[in-house]
Amino acid sequence: MGQGGLSLTFRSARPEDMAGIVATSAETGWEQLSAREREGVTPEDFAARVAGMFHHALSAPGGALLVAEDSGKVVGYILFCLQPNNLTGRLEGFFFDQFVEPEYRHRGLAQELNARAMERCAGLGATGVSLLIAPHNGDSQKAARRSGFKVERLIFSRPL
Ligand SMILES: CC(C)(COP(=O)(O)OP(=O)(O)OC[C@H]1O[C@@H](n2cnc3c(N)ncnc32)[C@H](O)[C@@H]1OP(=O)(O)O)[C@@H](O)C(=O)NCCC(=O)NCCS
Repeated sequence: MGQGGLSLTFRSARPEDMAGIVATSAETGWEQLSAREREGVTPEDFAARVAGMFHHALSAPGGALLVAEDSGKVVGYILFCLQPNNLTGRLEGFFFDQFVEPEYRHRGLAQELNARAMERCAGLGATGVSLLIAPHNGDSQKAARRSGFKVERLIFSRPL
């Protein structure tokens, strides 16, 4: 598939991809935590929870880790599954994490991963799809808006 002049292959992640992807997710995910969330948690604790998140997502209905590959190297991924909407109970897709290697950004790769994940979720009966983005993550918000996502709810938090 052509992506801004690149020739990429899209496929499901293989067992040998997992360690690198989970490490990337833990590193980038740490950057998404608020100061409140980081307090009392080490990056190592967080990495263990991220590994648990992958396990949870991939064990859930419709759980999938789709990767984009360039000449045998994973250059992007998206992790998602199906789950009932908390309020309505209707089956929806949930995107846990998405990543594109810095040198592959700004070429529409996140759009392609989103489109493929949405197609997969819709094919399994999902009526919508959601994801959570930190308020400071402008690139991710732009990518989501480009893929047709709109803000439906805001999460307010505070320390106690
Ligand atoms: C968020 C992230 C996945 C976005 O990846 P991306 O591939 O650069 O995002 P997009 O697919 O939206 O890229 C669109 C950009 O490519 C450009 N583009 C070029 N060709 C395009 C095409 N064929 N289709 C769509 N956009 C194209 C767009 O104009 C846009 O440019 P801009 O960002 O300068 O406005 C990436 O920044 C990332 O991995 N961030 C770190 C991890 C992270 O924060 N993950 C999300 C956690 S919630």
